[in-house]
Amino acid sequence: MSDSEPTALVVIGHHRSDSLTAAVAERAAKRLSAGGYRVDVLDLQAEGFDPRGNTADEPDYRNPDPRYSDEVHRHIARVHAADVIVPVFPVWWYGLPALLKGWIDRVWNSGIAYGRESKRMAGKRMLWIALAGLPEDHPNSRFTREFLDGPLRVGISAYCDVPDAAAVALYDAEAHGLSGADRDRHYRELFAQAEAAVEALIPTRAHLFSCFSEGVDVIRSF
Ligand SMILES: Cc1cc2nc3c(=O)[nH]c(=O)nc-3n(C[C@H](O)[C@H](O)[C@H](O)COP(=O)(O)O)c2cc1C
Repeated sequence: MSDSEPTALVVIGHHRSDSLTAAVAERAAKRLSAGGYRVDVLDLQAEGFDPRGNTADEPDYRNPDPRYSDEVHRHIARVHAADVIVPVFPVWWYGLPALLKGWIDRVWNSGIAYGRESKRMAGKRMLWIALAGLPEDHPNSRFTREFLDGPLRVGISAYCDVPDAAAVALYDAEAHGLSGADRDRHYRELFAQAEAAVEALIPTRAHLFSCFSEGVDVIRSF
């Protein structure tokens, strides 16, 4: 974690750089940057991350200081350097797309993200931003809600010592049945929902003052 300006890691879990997911991630990154964060954008596809499992990255449960592949250690170093982690991704079959799932599987590994005495992840915050094609009132959207609140927020974040985690879904991401101005308005609403969720990660004046009092010079970036 940084000892000067806070760092945000925005993780793009989509294979297309021109996707709505990438556009939402860009908005989130800009808002975090304007709010005083140094932003590290991790575009998994653009950086060529390989989500496939391999023998080098099988969890080494008994080793308190395990050595995995270089790629995994490069990625977990970026996670460790972040104060807040914001994965942005499309909901695929009520779960994570393979690209992001593979990143969690390989990088959020035993001894470096969980199961370690030193608690490397403690004190971080997390915001999962999910884009869902179904409208919020579709009966199956409860599976998306359950997935965000269970496996993501508790099963991954809290399990890895990040209990200060939230998850937000942006529904009807394909704007079914909408066109023209209605479609534009719908997308503006989705962007606004994402920005409102990100807002909660922006340090308040009171927080900045308390950091300043503790000798942490984050007030420069406000
Ligand atoms: C393989 C696949 C599975 C999908 N599964 C779901 C799903 O379970 N629930 C849902 O609401 N939308 C689902 N969708 C729709 C996507 O969530 C939606 O297309 C995406 O969020 C739109 O954002 P994008 O333009 O950035 O891809 C699925 C789409 C694909 C391609």
